Amino acid sequence: MNKTIESAFNEHLNAELFSAYLYLSMANYFAAENLEGMATWMRIQFDEERMHADKFIDFINDRDGRVILEQIDKPKSDWSSPLEAFQDALDHERLISQKINALVDLAVKESDHAANTFLQWFVTEQVEEEANVQPIVGKLKMIKDNSMGLLMLDEQLGQRSPNDTANGADPAA
Ligand code: FEO
Repeated sequence: MNKTIESAFNEHLNAELFSAYLYLSMANYFAAENLEGMATWMRIQFDEERMHADKFIDFINDRDGRVILEQIDKPKSDWSSPLEAFQDALDHERLISQKINALVDLAVKESDHAANTFLQWFVTEQVEEEANVQPIVGKLKMIKDNSMGLLMLDEQLGQRSPNDTANGADPAA
């Protein structure tokens, strides 16, 4: 495996594991706030990020590369409001999108076509990842301090299932 790509993929693998850790932390913040629906939504996001990490692990191994696990940074554990938490999630997804785009640039520079093809799945996935969080941030801005609105959104987000997009539609349907 191209060593530059191997190193960059190992670095990105750590970013996906950090994403998982961040959303698990958010899930526990919401659980502590008695917002079980948002906690469920974040637990599913935690699983999605582990799946993303698995894809990088499988690719590196399939290419006869070497997966090296590094320390995962400690995520934030408290937020001042559900809006702040979901805004952090959106900002984080935008950062991950930038990292994926930088990996595509690197794969092109290194003429690693297999890596480039592999990364295209993530380019598409990141559009969905951002689109999943954006409307939740928008709704939380509308809700402001309205408890009834917050409970209704919590109820809606709790209906997310592993095969759904965040907005309730099954992408395979
Ligand atoms: Fe793995 Fe949410 O991007």
